[in-house]
Formats: sequence, structure tokens, C-alpha cells
Amino acid sequence: LTRGDLPGDLAGRRVVISAGGTREAIDPVRFIGNRSSGLQGYALARTAAARGARVTLVSANVALPDPAGTQTVRASSAEELRKAMIEAADGADVVVMTAAVADFRPADYRDFKIKKSESAEPEPIRLVKNPDILAELVRRRGAGQVIVGFAAETDNVLEHGRAKLARKGCDMLVVNQVGADLAFGRPDNAAVVLTADAAPVEVPRGPKEALADVVWDLVAARLE
Ligand code: CTP
Ligand code: CA
Repeated sequence: LTRGDLPGDLAGRRVVISAGGTREAIDPVRFIGNRSSGLQGYALARTAAARGARVTLVSANVALPDPAGTQTVRASSAEELRKAMIEAADGADVVVMTAAVADFRPADYRDFKIKKSESAEPEPIRLVKNPDILAELVRRRGAGQVIVGFAAETDNVLEHGRAKLARKGCDMLVVNQVGADLAFGRPDNAAVVLTADAAPVEVPRGPKEALADVVWDLVAARLE
């Protein structure tokens, strides 16, 4: 018996979760990346499986063991993550985007390692915008599919969160405050969960599993 076989309020549901952070290649040895550890996405995957869901975890550059009882798929760049998420989200009951997707990528990929001696001063790296995967998943969503976004904000957390929820069009947005020693790479998290049609739910600082369970409580209520 695996955890996914245990009865729970997500039994029979298929959920897709992205975790970690994308890397946008500059040349074969360098990339633009971010500080996402993947811990929150992995906590969501474990707790969903424990509540009976069939879980697909799309994992971007994470140094964590694959959670038992879930199908883990790897993606590195935003474009790879986009493709993996669109494929996995087709027919899923729930989609959760915890991955930190790079907003920009280098306009030109250099096939060979850029050498220090190429020019006296380095050339600037020109960036272009990446697609908004969450917004695209919302546009493509099937009937009854619940879509959850995550946002990390450093300031005006509620105000930025509300505007973002409206802009993305997802059902829920989990907003947490980040800073030098908050959230990234830490086992605990504090957040507020925003929905368009209900009051914000505050989740006090605690293990990332506890926040994950609050998210699944709210998702399960929406699925009914
Ligand atoms: N997201 C996404 N694709 C992107 C950027 C973000 O799917 N290109 C998703 C993230 O996975 C997250 C949500 O959108 O679930 C919010 O990400 P965030 O970076 O906070 O939002 P942005 O729209 O990129 O706004 P900001 O300018 O604050 O970075
Ligand atoms: Ca962003």
C-alpha cells in the first residue's frame, strides 16, 4: 500500500504541482537562476499524496529526493517547465504553480562558453520576457479545474497579492513575504491565501507541510 492508496479527501483526484526555480541558459556553463529550494512544492506533493491524490510533480532544479508515491518529471528552463505543465495539466483536477519562473531569459544563447578575453569589458546580456505559464494554464483550463498560484512579495504583500490574483485569473493565490532570512530554503513559511470570492485566510508561521494542508483544505472545498 502506498500513501496514494490511502483514502482521503483528494482520493481519485489528479493534481499537478510545479516546484523549484527555472534556469535560463546564457552559455553551456552559465545560467540566470533564483533562490527557490523547492521545499514548498515538495511539501504540497507529499501532503496531496497522503490525502489520496495522484500527484505529478514537475521539478525544476531541485536538490531533493523524489517524494514517494508521486510521479516526478524534470524541467529546467521556463520553456521546458511550460511544456511539461501544459502536458500534465491536461485533464487534471488541480494545478499548483509553486515554481519560481524566471521572468526573463537571455535573448541569445551562446553555443560556446563566453571567454573573458573576448573583449576588454563584458558585453551586456540582453534579456527577453518568458511566457507567463500560470496565465496560460488559466486560459487553457478545463471545466472544474482548480488553479493555484504562489507569489513571494517583499513589500505591500496584500496589495500586490490582490492585484496579482486578479491579473492571473487563478482561483487562489498563496502570498508570502520574502526577505533575507524569510521563506527561501527554510522549512517553515507564513502566508496569506487569497481567493476572489472569500476572505483572505492567514496561515501563521509553521512547517511548509502545514501551509500545504491549508491549501489542500481550501482546494478540496472548491472541488466539491
Ligand atoms: N509564474 C508563471 N510564469 C511566469 C512567471 C510567474 O507561471 N513567467 C507563476 C509563478 O509560478 C507563481 C505566479 O505566477 O505561481 C506568481 O509569480 P510572480 O513572480 O509572483 O508573478 P509575476 O507575474 O511574474 O510578477 P512579478 O513582477 O511580481 O514577478
Ligand atoms: Ca516573477
